[in-house]
Amino acid sequence: MRKGARDSSLKPVIRTAKKEDFDSLFELEEICFKEEKFHWKQLKYLLLKARSVVLVAEDGGIIGSILVLLRENIHNARIYSLNVHPAHRRQGIASLLMDKTIGLLKEKGIKKVTLEVGVNNKPAQNLYDSKGFVVDKKLYNYYKNGDDALHLSRKL
Ligand SMILES: CC(C)(COP(=O)(O)OP(=O)(O)OC[C@H]1O[C@@H](n2cnc3c(N)ncnc32)[C@H](O)[C@@H]1OP(=O)(O)O)[C@@H](O)C(=O)NCCC(=O)NCCS
Repeated sequence: MRKGARDSSLKPVIRTAKKEDFDSLFELEEICFKEEKFHWKQLKYLLLKARSVVLVAEDGGIIGSILVLLRENIHNARIYSLNVHPAHRRQGIASLLMDKTIGLLKEKGIKKVTLEVGVNNKPAQNLYDSKGFVVDKKLYNYYKNGDDALHLSRKL
């Protein structure tokens, strides 16, 4: 087995998030993002009210999540957040979340997915590159701490 790969029988379950998952999702956001984490109101809106796709990876508890915002009459979706608990990284979980998300978005007729990633976030950039995303432009001073971001997209 490739280093870091999981035994397929140990794969986490990838499922749509439920409102009962809110606390776990919020906790995971707190762990994975320092300055750019969601306010709980934003997270609640994305989970419960927005036109969104929110998936979680569950293995005992919730160990990963992805939040995607859809818009009425627009065939583009935006990945708002993707994270995997530090203790479970490099085991293919983000890759599973992305694959499932892309499949669901295609089923919904979405034609393009976009996202922003920090210029220094090489793990995430490698992941998106492996999923066929390309850099559209650089966004200067995008984050609260002044860091630049890359705007990426992928046609579906
Ligand atoms: C980015 C993140 C979601 C990756 O999650 P993960 O479950 O560890 O990723 P995977 O195991 O599915 O890795 C898939 C691919 O991503 C890339 N990758 C993931 N972690 C990496 C790392 N530490 N260094 C380099 N490449 C990495 C690799 O190409 C990897 O494929 P490989 O294992 O065959 O080399 C995770 O590190 C994370 O939650 N980071 C903090 C939050 C964040 O930055 N989210 C993205 C915001 S845009």
